[in-house]
Amino acid sequence: MSVELGVELGRLRLRNPVLVASGTFGYAREMAAFVDFTKLGGIVPKTVTPLPRTGNPPPRTVETSGGMLNSIGLDNDGIDYFLENHVPYLSGLGTAFVANIAARTTEEFATMAGRLGEHIRKADRPGIDAVELNLSCPNVSGGVDFGTNAERAAEVVRAVRESCDLPVIAKLTPNVTDVRPIAEAAAKAGADAVSLINTLQGMAVDWRARKPILGANLGGLSGPAIKPVALRIVWQVAQAVDVPIIGIGGIATVDDVLQFLVAGASAVQVGTANFYNPSVSSTLVDGLAAALGEEGVSRVTDVIGTLTANELG
Ligand code: SIN
Repeated sequence: MSVELGVELGRLRLRNPVLVASGTFGYAREMAAFVDFTKLGGIVPKTVTPLPRTGNPPPRTVETSGGMLNSIGLDNDGIDYFLENHVPYLSGLGTAFVANIAARTTEEFATMAGRLGEHIRKADRPGIDAVELNLSCPNVSGGVDFGTNAERAAEVVRAVRESCDLPVIAKLTPNVTDVRPIAEAAAKAGADAVSLINTLQGMAVDWRARKPILGANLGGLSGPAIKPVALRIVWQVAQAVDVPIIGIGGIATVDDVLQFLVAGASAVQVGTANFYNPSVSSTLVDGLAAALGEEGVSRVTDVIGTLTANELG
């Protein structure tokens, strides 16, 4: 049975709902030996900032039960280098390319988005398909505040919408009491979609040394350990906003993908699983079509948001 896997996230059309998450796929070159990029719904490379950043002191990662903590600190070469060296490669991979940006101020976000938009206008072939706003990195001061405050998140989305024509995805943090007001504000400000969740802030301790293990003391928890939290947030946000949701958090199997879709996500991003199984994303696309076919479902969109909650007495 042939299964239609295409999904629409506002103005962004994807051939299927399986993307790879920022920070877990490098700038794609590193993964070329493992993944047929043309099979994927899209690629989100590592976050780019206005200027180069050296990132946080090592150690920057530590394995935890069912997951990992990272405190990379947005190590990257800055937007000039990104536009010159990574964008030409990323825009020719035969799949959607979603640039992920972070900045310290609303103005910086808008300027970066403007640079991406300008690049598209000048390019002789379709280039960047959307921009994902990293409003949620827990590892740099000044980054997390946007995603923890509805007004500031909305302000950034609005400014980015005004400065470029690209579809806008707001990537939100789970490190708040309730993500829903922030997702609602981002949607109202013009986000085409929201992606959630980024990592949960956490810590690992070397008790003998009486020290934190990570050089930056705290880090962001990702991997299978956070999947139940991510599912809960996707489900709650799906009932609160009309914009499409991209689910992220511990996705490693076809069942994981489908759990997020029925909970209300229109697409997913595979993150930490790329580190221990670099070809997992393309395997999931094949498996998704097979699983839907076995269920007699001919379009992936037919399962999105189909979860029915239990009646509570
Ligand atoms: C990092 O570079 O510290 C991780 C990025 C993120 O969590 O958004």
